[in-house]
Amino acid sequence: MCGIIGYSGSFSAQKILLDGLEQLEYRGYDSAGIALLDEDGKLYLQKKAGMVSVLREACEAAPVEARCGIGHTRWATHGGVSDVNAHPHSCGQITLIHNGIIENYHEITAAFGFADRLRSETDTEVAACLLDHLYHGDPFETLVKAADILVGSYAFCILFQDHPGKIFCIRRVSPLVAAHGETGSFVASDLTALIARSRSYFVVPEATVMVLSAGEISLFDQNGHSVAPELLTVDWDVESAQKGGYPHFMLKEIHEQPDVLENTIRPRLFGGLPDFREEGIPDELFEKCENITILACGTAMYAGMVGKAIMEQILRLPVTVHIASEFRYDTPLLDEKTLTIVISQSGETIDTLAALRLARECGSRTLAIVNVKGSTIARESDYVLYTHAGPEIAVASTKAYMVQLAVLYLLTCRLALLKETFTRQEGRCFTEELLASSSSIRQVLQDDRAVKRAVKAVKRAENAFFIGRGLDYAFSLEGALKLKEISYIHAEAYAAGELKHGTIALIEEGTPVIALATQEKIFAKTVSNVREVKARGAAVILIAKAGAKTDPDVYDIRIDLPVEQDMFTVFPAAAVLQLLAYYTSDAKGLNVDKPRNLAKSVTVE
Ligand code: M6R
Repeated sequence: MCGIIGYSGSFSAQKILLDGLEQLEYRGYDSAGIALLDEDGKLYLQKKAGMVSVLREACEAAPVEARCGIGHTRWATHGGVSDVNAHPHSCGQITLIHNGIIENYHEITAAFGFADRLRSETDTEVAACLLDHLYHGDPFETLVKAADILVGSYAFCILFQDHPGKIFCIRRVSPLVAAHGETGSFVASDLTALIARSRSYFVVPEATVMVLSAGEISLFDQNGHSVAPELLTVDWDVESAQKGGYPHFMLKEIHEQPDVLENTIRPRLFGGLPDFREEGIPDELFEKCENITILACGTAMYAGMVGKAIMEQILRLPVTVHIASEFRYDTPLLDEKTLTIVISQSGETIDTLAALRLARECGSRTLAIVNVKGSTIARESDYVLYTHAGPEIAVASTKAYMVQLAVLYLLTCRLALLKETFTRQEGRCFTEELLASSSSIRQVLQDDRAVKRAVKAVKRAENAFFIGRGLDYAFSLEGALKLKEISYIHAEAYAAGELKHGTIALIEEGTPVIALATQEKIFAKTVSNVREVKARGAAVILIAKAGAKTDPDVYDIRIDLPVEQDMFTVFPAAAVLQLLAYYTSDAKGLNVDKPRNLAKSVTVE
């Protein structure tokens, strides 16, 4: 959470920082600010509650000629949304921006007597005071000392007023990437702000001090020895982080799904069968595993729920899915026979990272399914499979979910071949169907008229219910989350058979019920649950396979899925549910890409 950018170079820092903050805004959009340090050491600070556009207006009314500076877009944790709580924070010689949480900021305030110096309610300002207190002319020494005192997670970019042209950075857990290009040196909380600046970048290592100047970036370990950065190449292009003619990133990302699905599946098929050995993942990892644990948060966790349903059915192995924020404080039942699969789009979600670390401590071998290359979860996991979704900018995850599913299906197939629950022929049929999912998604996207009709039944509701059985229940969870987070309609997913045990009391005239009935074996059972809610006045939106027969009085609106095999209905169904949420949010005039109170990557607890 919180977007960070720093620049030192030959161009106007104000423009570069504002442009970069716009790219990073999806990480937090409560307030934004920049600090510029000119060649004479004069500091210019501008910070505003609200979106980056508010800051831009203020900055453009008072342009500053400086070639070095730092910028921040905030997702509030400590202290409300206000100008004074916005970053950067200054104290004496120090001006800094921060992503993370300083857990011992009360203790530091008391121990060093900072209470009278503080103007904001933030933990970050306490860190600025600490650095100023420790500073006696040597930034490196100050940062090493501060790192010993600060407890929590942080990525700091710091200006020392008597060191014009330089930005100093340290981090612990919270991410920072850096790049040096023709126009100067850049640091940011994630790659999207750097894509347009350089193809080559590196992840700033923890326990180092990084110094950016116009001509170079230097890294030093705690003893002051120079450290060589491990350079990576950006494989996303500039267009992939822009809207490309769509009104919102979310709609663009929904429409990218057929392509990114193919990009994620095809390179892993050899003779029609999945194989991960070229990616450094040995078969022995799968052969030895006796049970599987999946750890993730939010949408990634719901992808895991679908993975569990598929894996248990095909592999006959026990699979458990845990919410990472719960798991990390649990006493887990894992050992070396457990394969732990960690799923994360950003690769930086703090709870998922902590859960991964705990799983490793338990002796389980870990495999991460991650979208962002070089991210912390990718680096700390024993093995990693990258999803090839490209940058996902909308806060609501769509294409990342789809490719997470694709990887889980591929993994299931590889495990099934090795554990001999699939023949090679069955494996080939499975991957053919999986690949065909991209065309079933395309068909949903090409004709979304029925979804738009459904929006009319949903958009004025205060509550909505998603119901389904088996696999349908697993992906209805994601449908409900999507609707909640961008349309602010209270939505819950229920196993259809569970309704009668309480929830059906909430159904009244016009309550939208989105019923997923895509599984042949339990189709009749789900339909009879649908009748129960219909009889109590629900407005039923039925999502079923195109050929499935139902009486027309069972539903108000029916959305047909162009797919035949039960196991693959999740792909077109997910596209339907995403569009339903998208069009509902848009019809309500809400900020689809940046819903209230949220941020794209959750790097604080
Ligand atoms: O980056 P991650 O996949 O680890 O993020 C996990 C969740 O924070 C994320 O899926 C969140 O639930 C999205 N807002 C869902 O659209």
